[in-house]
Amino acid sequence: VLGNRSAGKEGVWLAGAARKAGATVRLVAAHMDVPAPAGGDGLTVETALELREAMLAAAVDSDVVIMAAAVADFRPAEISGTKIKKRDDTADPVISLVRNPDILQELVELRDHAPERQAIRRSQLIVGFAAETGDGQGDVLSYAEAKLRRKGCDLLVVNHVGADKVFGQDSNSVVILARSGAEPQLAAGSKTEVSVAVITRVGYELNHVSPRA
Ligand code: CTP
Repeated sequence: VLGNRSAGKEGVWLAGAARKAGATVRLVAAHMDVPAPAGGDGLTVETALELREAMLAAAVDSDVVIMAAAVADFRPAEISGTKIKKRDDTADPVISLVRNPDILQELVELRDHAPERQAIRRSQLIVGFAAETGDGQGDVLSYAEAKLRRKGCDLLVVNHVGADKVFGQDSNSVVILARSGAEPQLAAGSKTEVSVAVITRVGYELNHVSPRA
């Protein structure tokens, strides 16, 4: 398995916060270290390609799409249905990777090109997440701003990640960037509190920011 250490907590707490705020929620999840919130629609997937299928279907009639999943950027080019045996007469295997589709970017493109009759989709609010680290070429925020422009989503929730940060932990601090150019918003606290802050911001955007359609 090629994976990462994301525990799925952020997505589960966002789903819980959205439900508490009165939304009808569909949670599409892969690996989770915590139980899904009770009483909602849910779907479990195993691979990035399955996640893509599920998200494309769920997004058709959703007012808001939140992509909190830590999607693997690559997948093995070939999958073996049988055990790969070691052999003395051939070289050891090399795992080649191919790029996974960018689901968030595809959802934005579908929204932006939706026909007029798809009113819900045309005014859909799309929220991305970004796990960033700074380096010699740029800081976390400059990378995040470039990602927001590249992905074209309406809001980008930016986590600063490092070896001991974010993945699997219960507290968090994020910056919410908006495509509209609004001032970056800081939200810190437990992941539950941060999730409530993100959902509150989503509510604000839905009610106060002019529809995209
Ligand atoms: N995402 C996605 N599909 C992918 C990869 C990422 O939909 N194949 C989404 C994530 O769910 C998240 C956002 O894109 O909402 C940013 O994910 P991130 O891993 O930070 O960015 P990448 O696009 O993978 O860019 P990079 O790894 O180059 O920073």
